[in-house]
Amino acid sequence: MTYIFAHRGASKYAPENTMSSFKKALEMKADGIELDVQLTKDKVPVIIHDETVKRTTDGKGFVSEFTYKQLQNLDSGKWFSKQFTGERIPSLEEFLIWMKQTKLLLNIELKNTIMPYYGMEKIVYDLVDQHKLRNRVIYSSFNHYSLQELKKMDPNVEIAPLYSSGLYQPWNYVKSLSTDCVHPHWRTLHPTILKGFRDCSIKVRTYTVNDPKKMRWLFDQKVEALITDVPDIARSVLDGSLAVKPSVIGNVFHKFNPKSYL
Ligand code: G3P
Ligand code: MG
Repeated sequence: MTYIFAHRGASKYAPENTMSSFKKALEMKADGIELDVQLTKDKVPVIIHDETVKRTTDGKGFVSEFTYKQLQNLDSGKWFSKQFTGERIPSLEEFLIWMKQTKLLLNIELKNTIMPYYGMEKIVYDLVDQHKLRNRVIYSSFNHYSLQELKKMDPNVEIAPLYSSGLYQPWNYVKSLSTDCVHPHWRTLHPTILKGFRDCSIKVRTYTVNDPKKMRWLFDQKVEALITDVPDIARSVLDGSLAVKPSVIGNVFHKFNPKSYL
């Protein structure tokens, strides 16, 4: 059965990466949550997508220029709607403490492709370990070196490279990272690419799928998980209460006939 992961929480319905969006995702019966982590000036892992606070708070500047305490003065809800005024940027620890009372899985995306955030891997890993959540956490990143750092720290850690481009035989690349899971953008998932992953027993968790028809097709393909802004819609497509025709995706690669490259 495919898992449903709420992208930045139930981010269609509540401001992304806030406790409200995570709680909403739980209410909507998501199996897991995907969230983005950056580091403050005093090296506290905080949950925010961008390197700067401008888009999702009432402040401005780089996350890395604020201490955690200073960040708490920013409002991270009212940009989305007045109803969420007073929302704060959560720390990863705050989230982990809350998550422990649930059965949720967690996908921590390390946002370290733009800012290097030296030492981020160990800080985040230790925090998860301290809260005894190692078995419920998957780490992903577009920075695959960072994932290798985690793997060096703990060979049992679950790492998943993120990608969104036309990688050639991506299953070979994924295997070279000593992992058996991958988080590709849905646009890259031509049926042949999915077959390549399946033949190598690589688990595919694809992002960010919000269209019910694409969801249907991916459920039929038995991908490991969907990462979506609308976990409620995904749930109803999965349980059949929302009946839709599947639509094949990955057509960006059709003209190359990926089969001939297998
Ligand atoms: O982890 C999947 C997805 O979140 C990656 O892209 O930009 O939404 O963090 P982004
Ligand atoms: Mg993300």
